[in-house]
Amino acid sequence: MLRLGLAFGDEAERGGIDAVSQPIFVQGDKDKLKQVFINLVSNACEAIAEGEAVSWLIHVDGSRQTQIKVHNGGKPIPPDVLPHLTKPFFTTKSSGNGLGLASTRRIIEAHNGTLVIESTEENGTTVTVSLPLCELESSVS
Ligand SMILES: Nc1ncnc2c1ncn2[C@@H]1O[C@H](COP(=O)(O)OP(=O)(O)OP(=O)(O)O)[C@@H](O)[C@H]1O
Ligand SMILES: [Mg+2]
Repeated sequence: MLRLGLAFGDEAERGGIDAVSQPIFVQGDKDKLKQVFINLVSNACEAIAEGEAVSWLIHVDGSRQTQIKVHNGGKPIPPDVLPHLTKPFFTTKSSGNGLGLASTRRIIEAHNGTLVIESTEENGTTVTVSLPLCELESSVS
């Protein structure tokens, strides 16, 4: 089980994290889920210029799902490239392997989740991971 986040007022405002009043738990392989977020944050950091920010937003709604959004600015991803990003060995980096998003998607889908990548000139790039919340979460106060 992975505890995803706990953010209160000030911390949420400073870090760009949606304020959630309780810890969020997702059932699954802790190391693999950590790898997902390491991959996504690494990609976001690699896409921005020095001084630009990467932000996380953790959202919970009534659907027993959590959405974790990792956002960065920088050059947008062209629409015709977007469908290829999760294919193994697709990379635009001279030193990239092109395996980060392929393995990320595989891990998320193995946890009954989804991965959506959106990118526009105006809004930058947002990668949204949706995962089912662990039932235990409702009993944690
Ligand atoms: N947050 C992002 N912003 C902009 N482009 C991105 C972002 N995430 C991924 N990409 C694009 O998707 C491509 C594939 O990403 P992926 O993580 O699979 O491989 P990689 O980062 O190139 O190499 P590695 O295997 O080392 O992670 C990247 O080369 C980059 O062009
Ligand atoms: Mg990568």
